[in-house]
Amino acid sequence: MSLRIGVLTGGGDCPGLNAVIRAVVRTCDSRYGSSVVGFQDGWRGLLENRRIHLANDDRNDRLLTKGGTMLGTARTHPDVLRDGLPQIKQTLDDNGIDVLIPIGGEGTLTAASWLADEGVPVVGVPKTIDNDIDCTDVTFGFDTALTIATDAIDRLHSTAESHQRVMLVEVMGRHAGWIALNSGLASGAHMILIPEVPFDVEELCRLIKRRFQRGHSSFIVVVAEGAKPAEGSMELRVGGTDEFGHERFTGVAHQLGVEIEKRINKEVRTTVLGHVQRGGTPTPHDRVLATRYGVNAADAAHAGKTGQMVSLRGTTVGLVPLAEAVKQLKRVPRERYDDAAEFFG
Ligand code: F6P
Repeated sequence: MSLRIGVLTGGGDCPGLNAVIRAVVRTCDSRYGSSVVGFQDGWRGLLENRRIHLANDDRNDRLLTKGGTMLGTARTHPDVLRDGLPQIKQTLDDNGIDVLIPIGGEGTLTAASWLADEGVPVVGVPKTIDNDIDCTDVTFGFDTALTIATDAIDRLHSTAESHQRVMLVEVMGRHAGWIALNSGLASGAHMILIPEVPFDVEELCRLIKRRFQRGHSSFIVVVAEGAKPAEGSMELRVGGTDEFGHERFTGVAHQLGVEIEKRINKEVRTTVLGHVQRGGTPTPHDRVLATRYGVNAADAAHAGKTGQMVSLRGTTVGLVPLAEAVKQLKRVPRERYDDAAEFFG
């Protein structure tokens, strides 16, 4: 049976969003003869009824390798979304949408589960470079960010060695340290700091000194932007919250670098990778995962399997209830960090 499907991309952008859109549009058209409406700039497009028709044409086909999102995206405060649910439902009705496919992270998928609770048919697709969505092994975008971060840290090794420096690299990872953990492991970093495990500056300084005393010529620390010092270890500036209700970071790596220089006689340099990690073309892994998510989301929508999120378990893409997926974030388990700690110092 052919349907009218809505799609949107919400939250921070992420390599692979366009590949999901392409796969949804293509599968809807070629498998089911269904049409697809794209809502622009995340939930805002539904609040303001801004949308475009997405055709299974040459432009769609060329989306596979493009970074960003052709639909645009935006962050929306959760209160605005809650209050806007009646308007969102109205826009879906006005456009004759049978099933909505929101592609996004924690915030977007939480709003999707609110809609599902109110009886709106939705199928969520998990995205985020942070890889912190629960009930799926991995989100698309993560592999691309990891590849970019690893490449950057690989490059810092040689300059750190030439100058006998301590190099701090700040990577993204608001609540979960997956990018820091895996890029640190992949690039042979000497310390990894993640939001899940408060760090002790004194202990870090001890490891740095010991490494140089043993004759090594560099020390690389990968710092997740959400990493926090253990209580009493050092002061970290407080940034409050932004207009979307998110903690505003104040640059943990820079502040830690100053602290290390103060405590030990070593030159420190800090690199903040920032949004470079979210830009550009997705890796082959993310292109494939995003495509599989898109095809499976379109299939689920047509099979009436709504209130679900597509998810990767092992090598299989399946469905999990949206309500389960948004209950908590997927953080780095302590034992994973302890394994990585074998390589610290
Ligand atoms: O949630 C993904 C993420 O990339 C976080 O790692 C980061 O803190 C945040 O988005 C940055 O958001 P913005 O693009 O709004 O600055």
